[in-house]
Amino acid sequence: MCGIVGYVGDRNLESVLLVGLERLSYRGYDSSGIAAISEGELSYWKTPGKIRELEKLLQNMNVQGRVGIGHTRWSTHGEPNEVNAHPQVNTVKKVAIVHNGIIENYQALKLKLIAEGYIFRSQTDSEVIVHLISRYLQDSLLEAVERTMLDLEGTYAFAVIAESDPERIIACKKGSPLIVGLGKNENFISSDINAIIPHTKEIVYMDDLDIAIVAQDKVTFKKLGGAVIEKTVHQIAWDATSADKNGFEHYMLKEIFEQPAVVRNIISASVKGDLIQFDGLRMGNEDLIRTTRFIIQACGTSWHAGLVAKYMIERYARVLTEVDISSEFRYRQMISGVNDIVVAISQSGETADTLACIREAKSKFFKVLSFVNVRGSTIDRESDGVINTNSGPEVGVASTKNYVAQLVNLYLFTLYISQLKWTLSQAEVQTMLMELKKVPDYIERILEQKEQIQAIAEKYYKKREFLFIGRGMNYPSALEGALKLKEISYIHATGYAAGELKHGPIALIDDQLPVVCIAPKCSTYDKMMSNIQEVRARKGKTIVIATEGDTDIEEFADDIIRIPDASEDLTAILTVVPMQLLAYYIAVRLECDVDQPRNLAKSVTVE
Ligand code: G6P
Repeated sequence: MCGIVGYVGDRNLESVLLVGLERLSYRGYDSSGIAAISEGELSYWKTPGKIRELEKLLQNMNVQGRVGIGHTRWSTHGEPNEVNAHPQVNTVKKVAIVHNGIIENYQALKLKLIAEGYIFRSQTDSEVIVHLISRYLQDSLLEAVERTMLDLEGTYAFAVIAESDPERIIACKKGSPLIVGLGKNENFISSDINAIIPHTKEIVYMDDLDIAIVAQDKVTFKKLGGAVIEKTVHQIAWDATSADKNGFEHYMLKEIFEQPAVVRNIISASVKGDLIQFDGLRMGNEDLIRTTRFIIQACGTSWHAGLVAKYMIERYARVLTEVDISSEFRYRQMISGVNDIVVAISQSGETADTLACIREAKSKFFKVLSFVNVRGSTIDRESDGVINTNSGPEVGVASTKNYVAQLVNLYLFTLYISQLKWTLSQAEVQTMLMELKKVPDYIERILEQKEQIQAIAEKYYKKREFLFIGRGMNYPSALEGALKLKEISYIHATGYAAGELKHGPIALIDDQLPVVCIAPKCSTYDKMMSNIQEVRARKGKTIVIATEGDTDIEEFADDIIRIPDASEDLTAILTVVPMQLLAYYIAVRLECDVDQPRNLAKSVTVE
């Protein structure tokens, strides 16, 4: 799981590759490297650590050439050290490859190659690719790549440069994403559009078993074992988006504070007068009216958004809604109905498990509707219908503003379906929209408590374990609060439906355990009060998220964070905000790398 980039042209090679890698680092950031050919000679540089480590390394090097490839890695096979970083090179260091994907039969291939005398330096699966190319390389690099592709099982997008063919990159794919960018007397390859959009908006999407022969003045495409093919050139309609920290210490904090503006933007983009509309939905209302079941599948934070959506869709649109973790979706023999719609929720639009599910769903003739933030991503392109979650670029690995954006879009979607199906009257929809329009101000009020939340973080940051509990649509909030904390502070945290406390997790409670209790004034309030008292009776420390003006709860709270008195359906959007801040301040206090936590990636492109 990684990002790859390549360039052939007259620009500064090092800078094009580094910009590309930085923009791809959401796919992994544990090590990186580049290779270039200059005056017929191959050179390469690589290092463990974030892209800035590579930048530092290259400061003292003289990277020359017009042909180069780069890689940012998230380790699957072999620890993140220099040897395992890409590019991987052949024994005599004349061929270099960068690879994204997993070669499933690498062990068998490796044993065969070792028996033939090839010397392996790394523990990566990718190294077999470069030795195979080397093995088959006689007159033609292209032929060697094709023969190598025939040997490989698994997924790949890889790019090769070689001294024997010094003016070109050869790149191919099966299962992993790869695009080619066309420029004027320059050309690019990349795992995604965003890495090269600062340079070109003419994009070719590669299909499985396509091969691109990328020279400075032209790109030729062919199918594995076939003839030259013509590919459609797509004009990308949007500009390069860049994100800076805007004076905040971390992207995550900036993104938390952007949430009121994000919600305002979504509302102004999708609510026109009395009407809810989704630009570029690409799915006809007839499909939505006919639907009798939504099957939502997503990973991580996006899965939590799906869990919240189930409460809303079933309650208001009265459509049966199932929610699966994408990586589990394929392990059940799903009973398909003709009017079912599979819904994918993904910030990046590249998550491999979610993508695999939509492909599986489409192969079974389901319609697929996706909520995606990154335009032009694979899930965006492969879905029948798309609702853009419109949160703007999210850089912090732990998702914050996009989660809130997903919830707001899913709320609007619920109202949209409810109108189509006549399960809500126009007046009811208008009332709910009025409530939604208050959310940006509500979030601002929560953010004003940042010092108080920081003080709570100071009190508890040394604890090694946290419990989060909630009920109803605040049960997914409890899961999300726990996920935020463990992602960025490495503290073990568990989210539970508060009613389940007595079935096991209550055994964990002692005077050392902080329990975040999500207890807004809503239909589950009384039951939550009982759960909070159960925690207190066992001397657990209660950090309670409560509604402004609720004084009854004070007696049972060691610490209180307030949310405004909003309609119950909107509480999940609000209760997550203080938990994002709590996780953030604890992680900062522990001196963790908040924006790029260890072992994680913003987008997980392996299954
Ligand atoms: C990774 C990220 C999470 C994210 C999940 C799903 O695990 O670290 O923040 O929620 O992937 O990503 P997606 O892009 O599909 O929403």
